[in-house]
Amino acid sequence: MLLRLLGTAAGGGLPQWNCACPGCSGARRFPTRRRLHDGLAVHGPQPDTWFLANATPDIAEQLETHSVLRPAAGAVRTPVVRVVLTDAELDHTLGLLRLREASRIEVWCTKPVREALSTRLPLSEILAPYTELAWHDLPLTRHAEPADVAGLQVSALPLSAKRPRYAADEPADPTWSVALKVHDPSSDRSALYAPALASWSECLEEEIAAADCVVVDGTFLDEDEPRCHGISQRTASGMGHLPIFGPTGTAHRLSKTGTHTYYTHLNNTNPLVEPGDDAHEQLADLGLRVAQDRMVIHL
Ligand code: MLT
Ligand code: MN
Ligand code: ZN
Repeated sequence: MLLRLLGTAAGGGLPQWNCACPGCSGARRFPTRRRLHDGLAVHGPQPDTWFLANATPDIAEQLETHSVLRPAAGAVRTPVVRVVLTDAELDHTLGLLRLREASRIEVWCTKPVREALSTRLPLSEILAPYTELAWHDLPLTRHAEPADVAGLQVSALPLSAKRPRYAADEPADPTWSVALKVHDPSSDRSALYAPALASWSECLEEEIAAADCVVVDGTFLDEDEPRCHGISQRTASGMGHLPIFGPTGTAHRLSKTGTHTYYTHLNNTNPLVEPGDDAHEQLADLGLRVAQDRMVIHL
C-alpha cells in the first residue's frame, strides 16, 4: 500500500484567499509553504488501482500533480473514480463536483454523510445530469466486514457527531465524522486517516497502536489558537479538532503509541505552517512529524 498526500491544509488552504495572517503571508512570499486542502490517494497492491480519501476543492490540480493519477497514455479518459469520505465537510466533499467528467463516481461513506450529501447539499441531484454517482455503505470497524476498495480493506472508526455547519441541525450520530482504517491484505500493513479528531477514546488509541502509520488531525497547535487569531470564539476542541499540544493535546498520546504519525489538515493559523517554528523541534522530540503536500508514504 502507498499513501500519496494530495494536500495537508484545513478548510481555506494555505494561503487562504481572504487572509493575511503570518501563515498565509508567509505562503505567498515562499510558494514552497503553500498547502492544498487535505486529502489522500491510496494505492492498492495492483498496479493502477487507487482511491481518493476525501475529494477536496483542489482535486483536479491534485490529480494533475501526480503523473500516476493522470489517465494512462493511450487511454482517453479516467472512466471511474473511487472516493471514500471521512465526513460531509465542504473541504472534503466539494471535489465531487469537480470530478463530474468521470463516467461514474463510486462513493463510500457512512449513513449520515450520505444523507447530508443527498439532501442538505444535494450532490446526487446536481450531478445526475453529468455523471453516475454510485453510493456504497462504509462498514464500521469491528462491526462488519470491511469494504474492498481498490484491493484494500476499508472501514470506518466512528469518532464524533461533528457535522458540517450546513447540516448543524441534523441529529447527532457518532458516524458523522470517522477515521478511515485501510488494511492491505497482501502485506498485512494498515493505515489510519483521521483529519478531524474531536475526542480521544480507548478504541481509537488501540487502533492507532495497531496501525503501521497514522495521518491525523493537526488543525490547531493549541487549544486557544482560534480565539487568539480571532477566527472563532470557540476553542480548538470546541471546533471539533483536538489541539496538538496542551492538556487536551494529541501529541503526548500519539507519541506513547509508537506509531509513525503525520499531522495533516493544518489551519493557516497553525505556527507549524512555518518551517522554522520551534514547534517542529518539540514534535520531533516526541517522534512525530508534520505531513507535507506530495509526500509519499510506502507501507
Ligand atoms: C472543519 O474541519 O472543521 C471544517 O472543514 C471547517 C469548515 O467548514 O471549513
Ligand atoms: Mn476541515
Ligand atoms: Zn491566514
